[in-house]
Amino acid sequence: MQDAPRFPHAHLAEPSSWVVAHASLVPAGGTVLDVAAGGGRHAKFFADRGHRVTAIDRDIGALIALAGIDAQRADLENGKPWPLPGRQFAGVVVTNYLHRPLFSALAASVAPGGVLIYETFAHGNGQYGKPDNPDFLLNDNELLDAFARDLRVVAYMHGYVDSPRPALVQRIAAVRGAAH
Ligand SMILES: C[S@@+](CC[C@H](N)C(=O)[O-])C[C@H]1O[C@@H](n2cnc3c(N)ncnc32)[C@H](O)[C@@H]1O
Repeated sequence: MQDAPRFPHAHLAEPSSWVVAHASLVPAGGTVLDVAAGGGRHAKFFADRGHRVTAIDRDIGALIALAGIDAQRADLENGKPWPLPGRQFAGVVVTNYLHRPLFSALAASVAPGGVLIYETFAHGNGQYGKPDNPDFLLNDNELLDAFARDLRVVAYMHGYVDSPRPALVQRIAAVRGAAH
């Protein structure tokens, strides 16, 4: 029998409102990295905006079906090395995925002038549903603590959202270098 999915809404095709709201921080013409891209809702969103997109997941079945996406299969956990060492991107997008050992690689993957857009569930989310395992839930200020040293925080939010479903989330948008 298959394990229950960590996050039950991976099938949602609509891009996150947080990603949409901060997409204009990705410099025009820059390449976007979608980490743990799943069905590719953000890979597709940025490709449709004219960006080249690299999308990583351990399961790229859905991603290879998307036109214009560089789909890369990689295990981002289990002690595996970061699959794109030394590469930097105009946009790095992570949603509904948390593996804390990746934080430094994610920050290093943001090119000068580029942006990290990250959103996932926060502690206490269990009262609304899955995920409820603390391993997959952010603590207070955790994204700030992880990224504010290397990147300049443009926007941050921690709290309740009712869309696309009731949840507690934490979100950050942070750029490398001066505002643009
Ligand atoms: C909840 S989905 C989120 C997908 C996408 N970011 C979104 O928000 O629509 C989590 C994704 O993480 C991927 N994932 C989980 N563990 C992984 C691992 N060890 N290496 C690579 N990808 C992994 C899963 O395959 C899944 O696509």
